Amino acid sequence: MDIEKTGIQKTGIETTDIEKVDIEKGEFEEPVDWATARWTKERIQSRLLSYTLALCSIAILALIFQPRYTPSDTTDQTPNPQGTIPSYAIDYAPLIWLDVNEEYFPSSLATHIQNTHPSLDHDALTFNTTLDLTNLSLLNALGDEGLNIFLTSNLDVTTLPPWLTGTKPSSTGLTSSTSAAIIAVPRSAGVVDVFYTYFYSFNLGPTVLGQQLGNHVGDWEHNMIRFVDGVPEAMWFSQHGGGQAFAYSAVEKIGKRPVGYSAKGTHANYASPGRHDMLLPGTHLPFDLLLTDYSSNGTLWDPTLNAFWYTYDAITASFTGAAGIGGEEGNPVGAMEFRGRWGDKQYKDGDERQSWWWGWRRWVDGPRGPWDKKLVREGVCPDGGFGGCVVKQDLREEEGRGVWVGSQAWVGRD
Ligand SMILES: *[C@@H]1O[C@H](CO)[C@@H](O)[C@H](O)[C@H]1NC(C)=O
Ligand SMILES: *[C@@H]1O[C@H](CO)[C@@H](O)[C@H](O)[C@H]1NC(C)=O
Ligand SMILES: *[C@@H]1O[C@H](CO)[C@@H](O)[C@H](O)[C@H]1NC(C)=O
Repeated sequence: MDIEKTGIQKTGIETTDIEKVDIEKGEFEEPVDWATARWTKERIQSRLLSYTLALCSIAILALIFQPRYTPSDTTDQTPNPQGTIPSYAIDYAPLIWLDVNEEYFPSSLATHIQNTHPSLDHDALTFNTTLDLTNLSLLNALGDEGLNIFLTSNLDVTTLPPWLTGTKPSSTGLTSSTSAAIIAVPRSAGVVDVFYTYFYSFNLGPTVLGQQLGNHVGDWEHNMIRFVDGVPEAMWFSQHGGGQAFAYSAVEKIGKRPVGYSAKGTHANYASPGRHDMLLPGTHLPFDLLLTDYSSNGTLWDPTLNAFWYTYDAITASFTGAAGIGGEEGNPVGAMEFRGRWGDKQYKDGDERQSWWWGWRRWVDGPRGPWDKKLVREGVCPDGGFGGCVVKQDLREEEGRGVWVGSQAWVGRD
């Protein structure tokens, strides 16, 4: 069959015939005489289809082989490259009220290292080169990838060596040494979780019916603010292995910066001042029940004035010192990568410092560092909490709150 001929001959034929012609046409090498060829509906459609396919292929190839996207200006929007702290993380950083009767203040991370030595559980390691914040992560080579390493006080902490009490912030909120690590974790498009982690060399546990329980060397607490397109949405307050979440709109603010209250001794973070019952979640108690935290507007601490800044890659689980604020030199990554504990191991029951009451010990293990704060979360609460993640819309909901209870016991390591 001759395609030209067919084309002419088939003028005015039915659709079904054209289809047949078009199928048949594929079998011929003969060039089409486009001047005379009839532009059938099918031919136009097939042309359009091939153009569309070609355009799609080009688009796909362009997407695959495009030069790496580099934003011309570092706006507050994602993509947020590793090593870059978005400005809103600073603008909306929490301010922390330390309790009026606080004795254990935010503490120098570097000083803490200098006054402790690494132990594998209770046994001091013969690791006699000096470690500092840059190379603390060398300890990850020991003791189950560092997990069983304890930075143990050189002096008996019951003698209250001076470094244990940290440094009280000045009237401007400044601590003279670095006691905070601020970590931006880019999540899905537009979402950045910023962790404000606070370090205290000592956690003085609460007193329960005259029993003082749950002390530990080293104390890491945190707030987390979830930003969506640079807008703060919700804020997490860590409290004894659990905590509470509030909408940004609900929390107390100084300017636009949210305010947290660090409880006396335990440094649990609350959204409001007052008494906070730990065992019977619910109220600012009118009297001391069993386990009570106290918080008040004693001394204002601005952790951003002296902090280490990092970004954390949720996929590779790695920290990067913030380029604009000190870079790698100024923001020691080794301190963040160290997987062990920032204090002594729980003293043995035979140890004269140790005592217990209804199963609770006076001295418990020091905590792990910020890497262990569930930096990659689905919601604003750490994943896996009992009762899900409720973001409270009103500060008054702190009363009658169902405290989020984590896997750790209340008097655990936080
Ligand atoms: C550790 O210190 C001991 C005693 O001070 C010394 O004999 C030993 O060589 C040191 N080890 C290392 C690895 O430096
Ligand atoms: C850790 O770094 C400090 C300061 O750079 C250095 O003096 C020390 O020797 C290092 N320790 C080890 C074990 O490399
Ligand atoms: C703390 O709060 C009380 C009650 O609101 C207020 O009277 C007092 O001035 C505040 N203190 C400081 C240091 O802001």
